[in-house]
This record gives sequence, C-alpha cells and structure tokens, in this order.
Amino acid sequence: MTYRPLRDTDLEAVSHLAQEAFGLRRYASSPTVQAAVRRIYVLHCLTSSTFAEVAEVDGEVVGVVMARAAGQRKLPGQGLYRVRTALLMTKALAVGATRGDTGALKEIQIFEGSYEQLRRRASAAGARLDHELTLFIVSGCCRGQGVGSRLYADALTYLRHSGAKSFHLYTDTGCSYEFYERRGLERVASDTITLRLEDALEDVDTFLYTGRP
Ligand SMILES: CC(C)(COP(=O)(O)OP(=O)(O)OC[C@H]1O[C@@H](n2cnc3c(N)ncnc32)[C@H](O)[C@@H]1OP(=O)(O)O)[C@@H](O)C(=O)NCCC(=O)NCCS
Repeated sequence: MTYRPLRDTDLEAVSHLAQEAFGLRRYASSPTVQAAVRRIYVLHCLTSSTFAEVAEVDGEVVGVVMARAAGQRKLPGQGLYRVRTALLMTKALAVGATRGDTGALKEIQIFEGSYEQLRRRASAAGARLDHELTLFIVSGCCRGQGVGSRLYADALTYLRHSGAKSFHLYTDTGCSYEFYERRGLERVASDTITLRLEDALEDVDTFLYTGRP
C-alpha cells in the first residue's frame, strides 16, 4: 500500500469511491446524472480542502482522506474545479429536466442545509469550527486492514502541524460514524433529514463531531 498526495488524475477514481461508499447512485436514475452527482460531490470536497491524500495498491486508488486547515492554501486547481462543477451542474439539470430526474440536486441541498444548521448550532454552543475533516473513504475491498486508520492519522498530523487544536466533521447514519466514536470524538449536534431516494422516503440522522487532532 502506498500513501501519497492526491493528483488531478485521481478524481475519477475518488468519485467512484464516494459513489460506492455513500450510495450516490440512489440519488438519480440516469447514469449521466449519477456520474455528475459523484463528480460534483468530490469537486465540492476539493474546493473545501487544503490537504488530500490517497492510498494506492497496484496502481489503484483504494482510499482517500481530505481536510481543511484554516489559514492554509487551498489545493491547486480551484478555478478549474469551480468551472467543472458549474458545467456538471448545468448538465445534471439539463439531462435531469428532460428525464424528470432533477431530485438528486435537491437531495444534496437538503444535506447541505442540515450541515449549515448543525454548524450554526454547534457554534452557538461554543464549538470552534475552523478545521475540518472533509472526506474519508476506504474502498469496500480494503476495509478492516488499517488503511483508514493510517489515512486518518495522516490527516490529523497535517491538522496538528497546521496549528489546529480541534477539528470537526459532518457525517450521518449512512456512514461509518462509529469509527469516530471509537476514537473519542464528541457528537456536538445532530439532526434528522428526510430524503427521497429511489422514489421512497428515507430518514437519515446527520451528526457534527468534534475532536482534538
Ligand atoms: C471509516 C472507514 C474509512 C474506515 O476505513 P478502514 O480501512 O476500514 O479502517 P481501519 O481498517 O483502520 O479500521 C476499521 C475499524 O473497523 C474494524 N473492522 C474489522 N473488520 C472490518 C471490515 N471488514 N470492514 C470494516 N471495518 C472492519 C477494524 O478492526 C477497525 O476497528 P477500530 O476502529 O476499533 O480500529 C471505512 O469504513 C469507510 O470507508 N466507510 C464508508 C465511508 C464512511 O463512512 N466514511 C466516514 C464517514 S464520512
């Protein structure tokens, strides 16, 4: 297993990891919109991050972690990421509109709205929300072998070296949030949102955790 900084050429592989780990396919029925959703998701993480590392085995990316440290330079390529996001949004909306498949972007907005609300509540209760773990995934094939622990440790080392005394992250019941609880992170705010996925309504609990890097 090799651990190295993320490259632009890893974006497609990372978007597939996100699709697999977070069930993003369920957000749309059209393959074109599904592809747009997974790419928009990863581009959004990249535009919110200052650190990105991948785990690679035999040339295949099997894990990724991203983080944002306040005051550090954003990852290179920000302008291009924003243009690509806008183009993908336009495509998803256009294709979605012709196929009656515009729900995906609405469901993503519900997730974003919950994130903002949890941040507001946690801030009001005194939490410092400057530094963040923005993405963390290991492929289903390679879980339980310590890859996640190594990526997580590298991201926390980066945050610590950037001067962070605390960090936070956003997660939900569809994710492996127990990983954070076993590492002593504290749940400081939670919410329940209702998503329409594959034509069925589904309640998801969303959480904001904080911890020391
Ligand atoms: C969270 C995640 C990144 C951890 O990656 P990982 O490579 O499995 O991590 P590790 O192998 O270092 O540790 C996994 C833990 O699960 C246990 N485990 C054992 N077998 C396992 C298996 N087959 N699958 C998953 N976890 C297993 C490990 O013992 C370890 O326990 P610990 O927390 O007490 O140390 C991974 O589970 C994942 O990608 N989940 C889906 C995406 C997600 O939810 N991301 C985080 C929230 S946004």
